[in-house]
Amino acid sequence: MERMRRLRVSPAMRSMVRENHLRVDELICPIFVIEGQNLCIPVDSMPGICQYSIDRLPEELDRIVEAGIRSVLLFGIPARKDEAGSGAYDDQGIVQQAVRFIKSQEKYRDLIVIADVCLCEYTSHGHCGLVKEGIILNDETLPLLARTAVSYAGAGADIIAPSDMMDNRVKAIREALDENGFVNIPIMAYSAKFASGFYGPFRDAAHSAPGFGDRKTYQMDPANGREALREVEEDLLEGADLIIAKPAMAYMDIIKDITTSYNVPVAAYNVSGEYSMVKAAAKNGWIDEKKIVMEILVGFKRAGAKMIITYHALDAAKWIREGE
Ligand code: PBG
Repeated sequence: MERMRRLRVSPAMRSMVRENHLRVDELICPIFVIEGQNLCIPVDSMPGICQYSIDRLPEELDRIVEAGIRSVLLFGIPARKDEAGSGAYDDQGIVQQAVRFIKSQEKYRDLIVIADVCLCEYTSHGHCGLVKEGIILNDETLPLLARTAVSYAGAGADIIAPSDMMDNRVKAIREALDENGFVNIPIMAYSAKFASGFYGPFRDAAHSAPGFGDRKTYQMDPANGREALREVEEDLLEGADLIIAKPAMAYMDIIKDITTSYNVPVAAYNVSGEYSMVKAAAKNGWIDEKKIVMEILVGFKRAGAKMIITYHALDAAKWIREGE
């Protein structure tokens, strides 16, 4: 008789047949950097997450490096915003300063610094592109995204990650990087990025909520799966080296579809709302945080993700090292 339980009798047996594993070097830890001094401002809706001024960044970076995490994803919160999001492509902008700082420190030099490229944190209207008469402009936004990418690369960023969802931005960014001598800087494209309620806490953290309307004219409709494959195909043709699927938990099928269709490393972005839900339930004692987080993260691996972008990265790294 077939007995599946034969291979589940002991920890050693289960470990021997385990199909998927979490690895600390596949975790990517998001960091919010804010203009100012001596700041570590907790984000209320994301317990455990702070906005750091550059002088206080080392606290977080030391924890990250000591945990064995090898890559971070930077988001900037500028002091001033304007219609054109000029803080994003200002060479003295907050992300540019943060990257320069990280790369100037011997102990962080090997960290992979991924710079999120988008205008929403920098525009007064909070949209990811230029706005004219209530319309989010596509082609007019591309040169600004490209300029931002070149500026981040110039500051020392290792990977450029456009999250704006304008059409053809990967091509515009690739060409601009190449023209400026950054031929070896990879593009990690948020290709399958849905117009999601799960970004709510992030918009508190990054001060990036749209001032009017929503992002549905550029981010994807949550009901669409096949369209995600077209987005990925398009970005790969335009020169993307790595792909992000986002959000992750309610979109495991998207991760699976992308990874079975294309030979490209895919990152699952375990977004802010997913994090906050787990934190809130854990705080109430309704769930076991460690078990839930590890189960969610290994679920991404099972779906085919290679890398995992998660606000749980520090805890997860500790739990991975502790073992089962
Ligand atoms: C910027 C951006 C967002 C996130 C990552 N980059 C917010 C948005 O699109 O509104 C969300 C990340 C998260 O929720 O953790 N465009």
